[in-house]
Amino acid sequence: MTTTTLAIDTSCDETSCAVVRNTTVLSNVLPSQIEFHKKYGGVVPSVARLAHEERIDGVVLEALKRAKITMQDIDQVAVTIGPGLAIALEVGIKKAKALATEYKKPLIPVNHMEGHLLSVFAKGNGPKSVPIDLESVLFPALGVLVSGKHTELVLVHDFGEYEVIGETLDDACGEAFDKCGRMLGLGYPAGPVVAEFAKQQRKEYKVTDERRHQSYIVKTESGLELPVAMANSPELNFSYSGLKTAFKQLIEKISGHDLTVEAQLEGDIKGLTKEKIYELSVLFEEAAFRPIEIKVKKALEKYDIKEIWLGGGVSANTNLRSKLRKIAKAHGITFRVPYTMKLNTDNAAMIGTVVNINLLRETGKLEILTSGFEEVDRVPGLGF
Ligand code: KG4
Ligand code: ZN
Repeated sequence: MTTTTLAIDTSCDETSCAVVRNTTVLSNVLPSQIEFHKKYGGVVPSVARLAHEERIDGVVLEALKRAKITMQDIDQVAVTIGPGLAIALEVGIKKAKALATEYKKPLIPVNHMEGHLLSVFAKGNGPKSVPIDLESVLFPALGVLVSGKHTELVLVHDFGEYEVIGETLDDACGEAFDKCGRMLGLGYPAGPVVAEFAKQQRKEYKVTDERRHQSYIVKTESGLELPVAMANSPELNFSYSGLKTAFKQLIEKISGHDLTVEAQLEGDIKGLTKEKIYELSVLFEEAAFRPIEIKVKKALEKYDIKEIWLGGGVSANTNLRSKLRKIAKAHGITFRVPYTMKLNTDNAAMIGTVVNINLLRETGKLEILTSGFEEVDRVPGLGF
């Protein structure tokens, strides 16, 4: 069976449209809105909405053009209905409804997090690209979803059967990357810049772990320390707000200045040398990833997990990938991660992939909703 989905995702600041045939991505258009949000130091929902409205028609046309097909060749239209910024999501939903009505196609609502989870199965259209045999996938799998808004461990009993076994109690890991990067004066979005500094400088600044009476810390050889949150608790949840506070205090201690919002927006952090920014980036990344390593190991002890799937914007990070790959290898289990960086951060190809996998696996069983979204409030187990 072959099924082709045109998918739209406008959950945050990417206006994305993709065409996906089974698990093969025929096109995945995602123009960045970075320029629009840069001067505010973060995503402004009303600005995101305007940019989505301006671009959505062109993005859809471009996705069809790159896939070399027309709306007539599409079997269904899929759209992200959450989680995300409500006023941004609305733009994609309106466009998807209009397309489905005009071309008389079924309209399928998709959960954004299920998109990140199944993004590991999307494949390219090149001659060397081999789709994954879905029948060979072993369950339960552990989904590790690390993005700008979520940090979740999902026990995947089967495609479509999800159980969140751990999640952040406050901020998300990607958000901590962005906020702490901003504290270092690295602009917007600062997360990938911190990651790049950490990657380049990791060999220069050795980080060690220390388990103390009631806490767990990571530290550099020069004595800079950051806490590893919830390391000692038996539960599988995360917390990143304490790391942000500790990071701010550490910068203020090193620099001898209060860290003001103005200084962060201007990227002018007094009293911080380039070397200290590098050292802090390396240390921060370890403090941000250590809880994920610890909780993934705990989940492996607790459940008979057969595969690890890493998705979400932070899965672009090569350090996190290699840490989880190592854990999977030590347990003799499969590790999956999106095959290209364009599938790590928000994109519509992952949304089309969700629909096609569910259709391929359960042809006839998937309920295709053609009217309204009011009745669809959640994907069982994934939250919303
Ligand atoms: O999944 P995503 O595109 O959006 C949400 O659904 O939240 O994730 C975006 C997040 C941002 O916080 C960004 O800083 C982070 O992913 N990110 C990274 C890297 N690339 C993107 N964090 C760490 N290392 C990276 N290489
Ligand atoms: Zn996302």
